[in-house]
Formats: sequence, structure tokens, C-alpha cells
Amino acid sequence: MKQKILVTSALPYANGNIHLGHLSGAYLPADIFVRYHRLNNSDIIFVCGSDEHGVPITITADKEGIKPNEVIDKFHNANKTAFEKFGMSFDIYSRTSLPVHHETAQTFFLNFYKQGILPQKSSMQFFDEKINKFLPDRYIEGTCPKCGNEEARSDECEKCGSLYDPSELKNPKSKISGETPKLKETFHWYFPLGKFQTRLEEYISKNSKKFKWKENVLQYCKSWFNDGLKDRAITRDLDWGVQVPLDDAKGKVLYVWFEAVLGYISATKELFAGRNNPDEWKNYWQDGGTRYIAFIGKDNTVFHTIIFPAMLMAWNDNNPDKYILPENVPANEFLNFEGKKFSKSRGWGIDVDEFLDLFPADPLRYTLAANLPENKDTDFYWREFQLRNNSELADILGNFINRTFTFAHKHFEGIVPPKSNLQQIDLNMLDLLEKYPMKIGALIDSYKIKDAVFEMMNLARSANKYFNDSQPWLTVKSSKKLCANTINISLQTIFTLGEIFSPVIPFASEKIFAMLNAKPVEWNECGKINLPDNHQLGNSEILFNKIEDELIEKQTSRLGVAEVVQKYDVTKIIYDEFAKVDLRVAQIISAERIKKSEKLIKLIVNTFGGERQIVAGIGKYYTPEELANKKVVIVANLLPAKLMGVESNGMLLAGENKDGVLKIVEADGNLNVGDKIK
Ligand code: MF3
Ligand code: ZN
Repeated sequence: MKQKILVTSALPYANGNIHLGHLSGAYLPADIFVRYHRLNNSDIIFVCGSDEHGVPITITADKEGIKPNEVIDKFHNANKTAFEKFGMSFDIYSRTSLPVHHETAQTFFLNFYKQGILPQKSSMQFFDEKINKFLPDRYIEGTCPKCGNEEARSDECEKCGSLYDPSELKNPKSKISGETPKLKETFHWYFPLGKFQTRLEEYISKNSKKFKWKENVLQYCKSWFNDGLKDRAITRDLDWGVQVPLDDAKGKVLYVWFEAVLGYISATKELFAGRNNPDEWKNYWQDGGTRYIAFIGKDNTVFHTIIFPAMLMAWNDNNPDKYILPENVPANEFLNFEGKKFSKSRGWGIDVDEFLDLFPADPLRYTLAANLPENKDTDFYWREFQLRNNSELADILGNFINRTFTFAHKHFEGIVPPKSNLQQIDLNMLDLLEKYPMKIGALIDSYKIKDAVFEMMNLARSANKYFNDSQPWLTVKSSKKLCANTINISLQTIFTLGEIFSPVIPFASEKIFAMLNAKPVEWNECGKINLPDNHQLGNSEILFNKIEDELIEKQTSRLGVAEVVQKYDVTKIIYDEFAKVDLRVAQIISAERIKKSEKLIKLIVNTFGGERQIVAGIGKYYTPEELANKKVVIVANLLPAKLMGVESNGMLLAGENKDGVLKIVEADGNLNVGDKIK
């Protein structure tokens, strides 16, 4: 039985272009996951589309003097095209303005309404008299009642993550007109989130253990539960959106988040309607055997781990057709751009579309995938992009493939040369090929995509080493048979590489298979011998072109980014990584040996911020007496650690000579205690 999987990526607002940060958050990881599973013989569908309601779209329309419809058409089409160029393999890219979505969302609302679980409550909401509109949450800025953040939204603080009633916000200002908005009475229907808290906690606790949810996602949910879930208004006073399907609801629409999450369902309906199989969507959404994975960026977490599941539970309480809940919500952190947040208004960052006019998709996919913000925020750097392309894709992967094909075409008439009497070195390489697909598949399936990408390139590194060690340029003269073995196994390796890399660099992978004149096989088979002896190869071509400095400089100078990295390989780091290390001059005040250790010495040093204790492993080379008063260099921002039970707050720098003897790095007399070393 094929494994059935439903994958969704957050529906981007059709109110702006998607940029690289979006790709890293919810799209590229999902696409890699899906592409892997398609090859792994899963029955998988991948659903996405534009989120086309909400106030921001109406504000854009007002600003530009056009209709909201024109705004969404423009950005829906632009984003759809950009995703295609980037190689996103959605089965459908739908939109929430479609009738099927309005019906779906209204059906959910009505169902809840008829169950009697949606209380109608009056409330005071901000009204901007200048533009004659109730102000959307995002367009009010004020001070967070919980943490004092002065850029808090009307009902949500991005800094501390709390939600509150807009009336609790301090010093409100309209971001659109700049006026102090008035609180005006209105009424809305509320979803009783609190009623679902216990069941949500059970659901998350069970699934998070069983499917290993990410720690950041879990922490987020926990803090929500600790605050206690409250009723949430699910309607708004607005003339753009899904109408509230009740007679006494003129001028009211469903809250955009309430209906947007249902967009995943509507999009799936549209997908199968287009395949002339209109009921098939139920076999994903309402089949207990289906795995549902929702890929999102961290700012969307609560809507996918709490609100959407609660809505589905509410539906399931009262209907024979029961929806499945997400098995996992692998939210990513944010990608920044050259050290700062993406910002359209400040011109910081680059849109996907713009990027792909300059460079092909694969190097971008590879760079982003190697750097995904899976557990912490990461950055896109132009220099790194260039180096990943030139030194990894071109010099490691591309070069291996190119060398092999050149040999095959030049010395073996473009066929897979028959192998005979494989040597140990060949067998070792074949062993490696067998191991990688499973290893990489398991990493992808557990959302460790960054690690998976690292392993992919590792196989290419081993392949180059195999080629070098086998020296086919010598054996081609001394023993054609040995040379044939090398080229045969190298071609098998290219097959494996072409397949395991395909989720990340699908365009190059397609070319690789054309060059091999072969088709991918099932994932777990791709490490076997897949090319028979004498198989006719296709024409070869260069897969990755080097990116010249000038092109990158043009981009960085546009931004005014300092050029810091000259050359890059895996052992090298970018400047920003180094800059995080806080090196300081310190003076040793006292030193004593740590009992029962011949290596460790406990030091008290004086440095910026005062005295601190450091444990250093130099006991074999220095006596405590020799150390006193020395001016040394320490790493000052190392997390505290305990060595043989003694706490150490930093690390002493020492050099190791040829004989393995450690010599302390002493600070020159020109440097003072506390000085920063850069
Ligand atoms: N449009 C939202 C955003 O870009 C995401 C919506 S995800 C959905 O942040 F589930 F609500 F569709
Ligand atoms: Zn706050």
C-alpha cells in the first residue's frame, strides 16, 4: 500500500511579491519533502494558493486607486509564475477568491453557527474616522500591554507573542492616517477556542511525541496554552472577503485567518474537480490513513497548530465526515538578508522573480536549502550564494560529472563501459552508494533538510575522491579494464547523485538523467547499479556555470554590503560567523591546579566586565606560578561549561606546535585588559 500524504504550504497573501525569506520558510522545504516522497513511491499531493482577502489588500487597492480584484489578480499571477520559475511542484496553486472557497468557508461557519457554538458579542473596535473604516489589527500600532513593545499590533504582539483584546493596547495610532483611532461599538461572532484547549493539548502532546515536532513549535504552543485559550472573533467589518452567510451580517466578512486555513481544503477540491474526480479530495482530507503535513513560517504557528485543528475538531464533533488533523507542522524560523530583516519599504532584500531574472533556480535552491532556518534564523548572503554555486555545485558536483562524461565519450564511445573484476576501491564506492539514499531519505522525512543537503554534497565529495584515487587518466593507458571499472562505477554514482539531489536541484537533475539517457527509479533503488553495461549515454553538457565576481559585486554594491568572504569551502566560514566570537585581552590574577587532573588549571582572570573563572587544559605545559600576571587572549562569549565539576566561563587561546606542545597566546604590551581582538 502506498503511503498517502497531504502537504500544504502556507497560502501567501496576494498583496506583494514573494521574496527569498518566504521560500526558505514554507515553500522550498515542502517542495523538497514532496519531491522526495514522489520518488519514494508515496501517494502525495501538494496544495497551495493565494490568500486573497484581508484588510491589507484593500489598503493597497485604496493607495493605488484600483480595485482589490486588480491587486489580487496581479500578485496571484506574479507569485504563481515566480513559484514555477523556482521549480515549486505544487499539484495546484489555487486562490481563495474562487467560489469553491467561499462556499467551503461559509459551510464551516454555518455549521458552527447551527451547532450553537458561535456566541455573538459586542465589542469596541478601532475606527479610523479619516478613512471611515474599522481599522484592521495590523494597521493599529501601539504599546503591548504585556511586554511594553512599542510596535505592537492591535491584538497581537510579535515580540512576546501574546494576544490581547484591542482595547488593552496602549497609545493606539492608525498606521494609515496617523490619527488616534476611536473605539466604536460593533458586534462579531466568536469561535470558542477555550472549549478546545484540553483536546488541543492532548492532540499536540500525542502528535509531538509520536512525530517528533520541532522544539520551537512546541514551545510556542505551550506558551499559548499557559496563557489559556480564549474566544476569538471570526468576523470583521469589511467589504472585502467571504460574506458572513447570515441575514443580520450586512457588511461583515469572515476573518481572513478563519477562512484562509480552509483554503487548503478548497484548493484540494479544485485540484480534483480539475481531474474530473470531484469527490477524491475526501480521500486525503477525510481518510484516517493519510499523513497531513503543514509547512509554514513561524509567524503562522498558532493558526496551524491551534486554531485550524480546533476548527476541524468542531466540525468533526457534528459531522459524519471527519477531517484529519496535521501530523506535523514543521514551522521554520526566518531567513534574513545580509544580516537584516527583509524589508520592501527599505529596499532590503530581493524578490524571487527579480532573482531568477539574474540567476538560475538551482543554485538558489541549493544555497537556501543548505541554510534553512530550521532551528534558528539564518541569512542569505550574496557571497555565500556565489561560493556555494562555484565551489560546491560547479567544483564538486559539476566537476565530477563533467570529468566522468568526458572520459566516457572520449575513451569509451559514449557507452557505459562493461565492468569486470571490480577492485576494493570500486566495491567501497558501491557500498557508499547503497547507504546514502536511505540516510538522506530519513533526514528529509524528519524535516532535517539542511542535514540532508549536506549529506548529498558529501556523496559528491566522496565521488571526486574515488575518481582521483582511481587515476583513470593513468589506467586509460596502463589498464583499460581498470579504467572501464572506474568510469562504469562513476556513471552509476552520477545516477545516484542525479536522483538524491533531485529534490533540491530538480532542473540539473533532469539534465543529468538526459545525459545518462535514463530515468529515475524508486528512491531506495537509486543507490544500486542502475546502468547496464554498454548502455548508450546521451550528450553531455556543463551543468553549473561559475558566477563571476562582477555579477555579485553589482548586487552587493547596490546594497552597500561590505565584501568579506574571498573564497569559500566547507571548512571556511563567513565573516559574520567569526565576528560572533568575542576575543578579549585578559590578565591572569591567580592560577591553581585542579585536583586529580594533570591537564586542567583553574584561572581567575581580569577582563572587560571584571573577573571571571576559566578552566584551561594547559597543566602539562605550565606551572601555576609561571602563569600568574600573564596577559592572554580569551574567548569571552563561550557558554559556561563545567570541567571536572569546575565552572569555566571562557576559553584561553593557545597555539599548538609541531610536537603537540601548547603555548599560550600572549597579548602584546600595547594591548590593555579588556581590549577586543578582531
Ligand atoms: N497569508 C498568510 C501569510 O502569508 C498565510 C496564510 S496560511 C493559511 O502569512 F493557512 F491561512 F492559508
Ligand atoms: Zn509584547
